[in-house]
Amino acid sequence: MSAAPRRVTVVEVGPRDGLQNESASVATPAKIAFVDGLSAAGLPVVEVSAFVSPKWVPQMADAADVFAGIARHPDTRYSALVPNLAGLDRAHAAGATEVAIFAASSETFSRRNINQSIDESLDTYRAVCERAQGLGIRVRGYVSTAFGCPFEGAVDPQRVASVAGALIDMGAFEVAVSDTIGIAHPGQVPGVVGAVSERIPIEKIALHFHDTRGTALANVLAALDLGVATFDASAGGLGGCPYAPGATGNLATEDLIYMLDGLGITTGVTLERVVEASAEMARHVGHPPVSRYFQAVRAARASSPAGGRRSSS
Ligand code: HMG
Ligand code: MG
Repeated sequence: MSAAPRRVTVVEVGPRDGLQNESASVATPAKIAFVDGLSAAGLPVVEVSAFVSPKWVPQMADAADVFAGIARHPDTRYSALVPNLAGLDRAHAAGATEVAIFAASSETFSRRNINQSIDESLDTYRAVCERAQGLGIRVRGYVSTAFGCPFEGAVDPQRVASVAGALIDMGAFEVAVSDTIGIAHPGQVPGVVGAVSERIPIEKIALHFHDTRGTALANVLAALDLGVATFDASAGGLGGCPYAPGATGNLATEDLIYMLDGLGITTGVTLERVVEASAEMARHVGHPPVSRYFQAVRAARASSPAGGRRSSS
């Protein structure tokens, strides 16, 4: 693995990308405990919630209360999704020092997700970046549908590169190139990352894989080889996008950390503590985590004499 980094930053998006798509309404204290459990596990970045329209995504309506309740760990950055200036102002009032803006590389998805064309959204985000800079708030960018669109099918990697470049030009410190519907495969990764890295430095590229077709870990391996060193994941594999039909959970944090640990790549994350956070959240969402590592650990515990006495989620 030639260019593979020795250290990887894992961006935990479970409290936002995960919970936004759960049908169960998770109470605010459970969300706060989830975020605290994840920062205690050593995750360096946790996307806490989204200051989007509560009419569009009711699951994130309590974003300010979640921010107010979390115990901020000095080694963790806490971020929030914002779609516009109103979202930025709400995030600032809640004490967020980092936000994420989210553009798309296909027009239909952009319209369905944020009710704006790609160009309109870039104008909106330019204003967000300008105001954020004045407030001392860091801005991360996402480019959705980078590997395929649920409405339009194939997406030209040059289109992805152009949107990613626009986000960096307006002030984003990093862009998460995102496989919204989990359609990417390792054969596609060099083409998309290659096109984006001709427009922005590789150090500013993160990858955000959903695991709909079971290819997310293989995609990470392919991207590590290209020198990408930041990956998004969600504890337990929670997740999806309410405006992308068929999108399932993100790559599970446990599965990612297990693989990176095995490769000798440092993350600073304690795997068993992520498992604990996922187990606790499973009680609230009402279904077991899809993470394969989580399931393996639970099966092993259940079959051991001591494990048999544990409660299972
Ligand atoms: P709109 O209806 O076109 O805009 O929504 P609007 O300006 O007419 O606002 C509608 C109402 O929402 C108004 O309230 C606004 O005040 C209010 P009303 O007058 O009707 O009472 N409003 C807000 N309220 C709170 N916070 C705000 C806010 N903005 C407006 N920030 C809008 C446009 C962008 C607001 C809407 O489409 C929206 O919120 N979309 C968010 C959709 C979303 O969160 N999708 C999931 C996250 S993206 C994702 O998952 C992909 C990602 O994971 C990467 C990947 O995997 O690809 C990031
Ligand atoms: Mg996502």
